[in-house]
Amino acid sequence: MHTTQSSLDLIDQCEFSNDDPFEINQNLFPNLKSVLPTTIIKRIEAECYANWLNWAFEGESSVSVVYGIIRDQISNNIVDYFSHLDHTEQQQVKDYFSNIIIEEQEHRIIFKNIIDKLQLPADINYRPEFFDPDSVEFNSFWNNHYDKVGFLSALGIAVIGESYLLACFLLFYKQSSNKLKKQIFKQFLTEESQHIAHFLNLIKRGKYSEEDKDRLHHSFLQTVQEKINFEIKTVNSIRAKLQKGFNTKIVDNGDNFSILNDTEKFNQIAYSGELHESFKELFLRRSYQFYHAVFPDVTEDEFLHQVKNYHSDQLIGAE
Ligand SMILES: [Fe+2]
Ligand SMILES: [Fe+2]
Repeated sequence: MHTTQSSLDLIDQCEFSNDDPFEINQNLFPNLKSVLPTTIIKRIEAECYANWLNWAFEGESSVSVVYGIIRDQISNNIVDYFSHLDHTEQQQVKDYFSNIIIEEQEHRIIFKNIIDKLQLPADINYRPEFFDPDSVEFNSFWNNHYDKVGFLSALGIAVIGESYLLACFLLFYKQSSNKLKKQIFKQFLTEESQHIAHFLNLIKRGKYSEEDKDRLHHSFLQTVQEKINFEIKTVNSIRAKLQKGFNTKIVDNGDNFSILNDTEKFNQIAYSGELHESFKELFLRRSYQFYHAVFPDVTEDEFLHQVKNYHSDQLIGAE
């Protein structure tokens, strides 16, 4: 609890700007400079930060509830994957989840306080009243979701979220020039790494049904693919918006920025370089560790190959 209080005090002492809330030393997408003007890159970055902050707030709020559902499923033996553990071990699992839930609720408040210091753009759907772990509506939303996807996928997707957050925190921690903000990320890094380690340890001890494993396989690969690069969905939607704008009116001054028409090349430039390489590497490594705990025969190379070649219609086919 007191580490969070210190994080909240740190947030109090800091200013956060929409353009560069974490005061990172270089552009988020430094290589785009070779193909786009700074004003456009700034716009892309500001939208990425706003989307990311809102996503992180929603994610921390969601896991605060989802981990509670999972804990109750295990402790009431509704999922029997851990029924072979003795009473003390089961109690440990339950206690660990309870501690994590407290930390996730604290993380939620940290994000809320950062967002409250910013002016999120109007098109960001920031809904703190819905994403509230005490709200009945929010709890029943996640209970329904759990009933649909089952234990392994619910936990697996949460672990992908944890891994993505961890990679983001490391990126901001390494790049920030503000010592106070660095301390905030350090706390996050410590706690989220512990969460992932706990889930890995837990998942290795369970025995799962083929049906649950199959469901995990599809939802896991699809979600890893979507999250492999920092905010790629946001980047692509801005790219598409800019492309439309340039194609219709600004073209006559000669600056048609043809790079905007080529998604693949654009992403290749945006996500090349050390910053994004190490992000991807950490995210994929953590995701693989979880997948491997359920599918011990799959090597890391095979996993990476599957992520790269996964098509979401495989998911539809599986349902
Ligand atoms: Fe968290
Ligand atoms: Fe976490």
